[in-house]
Amino acid sequence: NRKLASVASARPDVCPPYSKLVKNLGEVRKVLGTQGLTLAEKILYSHLDNAEESLGGRNGNVRGEAYLKLKVDRVAMQDASAQMALLQFMTCGLPSTAVPASIHCDHMIVGERGADVDLPKSIEGNKEVFDFLESAAKKYGIAFWAPGSGIIHQIVLENYAAPGLMMLGTDSHTPNGGGLGAIAIGVGGADAVDALVDAPWELRAPKILGVRLEGQLNGWATPKDVILHLAGKLTVRGGTGYIIEYHGPGVETLSATGMGTICNMGAEVGATTSLFPMTSSTLAYLNATGRSHVAEAAVKTQKESDYLRADETAKYDEVITINLSELEPHINGPFTPDLSTPLSKFKDVVKENNWPEKLSAGLIGSCTNSSYQDMLRAEHLVKQAAAAGLKPVADFFVTPGSEQIRATLERDQTLDVFSSAGGTVLANACGPCIGQWKRTDDIKKGDSNAIFTSYNRNFRSRNDGNAETMNFLTSPELVTAMIYSGSTTFNPMTDSIPTPDGKTFKFQPPTGPELPPNGFIPGNLDFKPAPESIPSPETPVVVSPTSNRLALLEPFKPFGTSELKDMKVLFKVKGKCTTDHISAAGAWLKYKGHLENIANNTLIGAMNAETGETNVAYDFDGSSMGIPELARKWQKEGKEWLVVAENNYGEGSAREHAALQPRYLGGRVILAKSFARIHETNLKKQGIVPLTFANEQDYDLIGSCDSVSTVGLLEMLNNGGNGEVSIEVIKKDGKKHTIPVKHTFSKDQAGFVLAGSALNLLSKKA
Ligand code: F3S
Repeated sequence: NRKLASVASARPDVCPPYSKLVKNLGEVRKVLGTQGLTLAEKILYSHLDNAEESLGGRNGNVRGEAYLKLKVDRVAMQDASAQMALLQFMTCGLPSTAVPASIHCDHMIVGERGADVDLPKSIEGNKEVFDFLESAAKKYGIAFWAPGSGIIHQIVLENYAAPGLMMLGTDSHTPNGGGLGAIAIGVGGADAVDALVDAPWELRAPKILGVRLEGQLNGWATPKDVILHLAGKLTVRGGTGYIIEYHGPGVETLSATGMGTICNMGAEVGATTSLFPMTSSTLAYLNATGRSHVAEAAVKTQKESDYLRADETAKYDEVITINLSELEPHINGPFTPDLSTPLSKFKDVVKENNWPEKLSAGLIGSCTNSSYQDMLRAEHLVKQAAAAGLKPVADFFVTPGSEQIRATLERDQTLDVFSSAGGTVLANACGPCIGQWKRTDDIKKGDSNAIFTSYNRNFRSRNDGNAETMNFLTSPELVTAMIYSGSTTFNPMTDSIPTPDGKTFKFQPPTGPELPPNGFIPGNLDFKPAPESIPSPETPVVVSPTSNRLALLEPFKPFGTSELKDMKVLFKVKGKCTTDHISAAGAWLKYKGHLENIANNTLIGAMNAETGETNVAYDFDGSSMGIPELARKWQKEGKEWLVVAENNYGEGSAREHAALQPRYLGGRVILAKSFARIHETNLKKQGIVPLTFANEQDYDLIGSCDSVSTVGLLEMLNNGGNGEVSIEVIKKDGKKHTIPVKHTFSKDQAGFVLAGSALNLLSKKA
């Protein structure tokens, strides 16, 4: 097993290609001149496909303006989002992925009674999906981390993240890798496919928010409190369009895993990603996780080229300073991660808001906070309480982030300490963090109750499916202390707990080593490394033809050689239409790998502009039905269709299903007042034409079942995105309107639509 663990970390491809990146940075400096660069810029711009093309001719005005075309070093995918990413990748016909990639089975594993019971049950329930992922990994040369091996971000931190690396991950907390100095960005599956097929991945150059850390954490304050505090300042949107770059003397005092925690939760303020510079802790962690060769290469690169530090003259767009020495523990929530309260004020805030005073459960671990240091500091508190004769009075759950962490904690008897305190050790997987928590306590759906977790997100219903469960996010240390009082108003820094022998007990501040003194052990690792050479094309991919969870994709048809004629308006949307309205999540998630089945949720959250009804569409004869039903009916009848919508259509996530599904059901155009940028790009990638009204009030001229033909669209596409487009509308009553529309097609994107989809185009080139 030890050998297997080192296969992941000692492979040559886990070392970033430093010489190439340093050389690329030289090109970047030639284009940008003498301006100082932040660390984020150095790493990002050295991954440009063509520095001159992305950065040239802008007089140095890059941030917030230029579109960067990037070639990333690595891709990581979690099991839920990997399905559609791989099914799309398969349509390209490539023999293997163009960059190293890994698949992590973590999201589909339940947390209920403990790892021994939950893991086999979850494997059985999701067998066809795991079998598919494993077979696709084998066929295309992707590393496969089986169920139980750990959570994607912890595994990436232990094996792949490194200073100067640039990677994409199909999960929003991918920035966790920034703790080791990587630019690690969370994306949707279609973006991951760009990287897997070696197409440049496009990103608008982020602005850089500098967070200067001074002083040193002490007592109960932890790295988690840095980001809990920052989330309160920035709010859930404050980091949008920014990379958060930490710097200053305080950085040197943090552990590598603590820096990972801070970067992980940068997703909660909407940041593109977050990162730290390389410190002595980074190197110690790389060495402890079997990557001395990466540590040596990074040190050498830094010495010779200063690649892994910001330039002295670098300027941040904004700077926030945090003095770690004065930082208090924080508690964030409920229901939003930016509602931040310092521990000293929390008691009053609970009372003011009438939040539950009884704590029903405490959960530690997850991808955010399951480092050796986190767990040892929690153990220190459990041992103190046990010595005073105390037992937790609230339920206590522990989720190790990986098998390596679990096995190491088992060897060092930390897990025994948790278990003897009545703690339940769950599988090394997401479990309660992603709604896979089957509660066995007496909390019923609809019961208002409070839980404390060391997780990163606390939206309603996220953990146990109960919209009334208030999840308060905090450090694992504070969660652990709170379960002994059972009260949300307890402050372990000032308050005592009565002991069974009539005395009172007060916690001492937690302590614990950064890394295991006897090293990590891999445990019972179920990991299949990527093969050294390209696998045989005969290797099968396992998809049962009768599966209702997985289905192979057929390439979409090319655009054709004429204008779009006589399309029908399927639905006119009123108001907000997010990716959740277009492709709902929740119970539908299990069909993520089956386009036909998940397409039954298409637009079911959208409101009908003509009737105010949700998911009710009307056919020509006045009969009503659900939107997906009408789309399927028209598709059968050979009618192509379009949707008309208002502002910011497709806001929310990068979910590619929101573009794939309408395309699959025969949609050709989305005509809106405006689009969310990522969704607009996703539509073009799937071969749908996004158009906007040149005059917003023309939205009123068009209604359901109207006939629409394009004018100038084909010519514009054939001209690489240049040219004017309009549409001709014939109303049900025969009236005609010509409506001018706008588009944002680039040359590449015009090519996607003409080919039928971006993947069709890429596979033609392959
Ligand atoms: Fe996401 Fe799993 Fe972490 S659900 S937040 S990756 S534990």
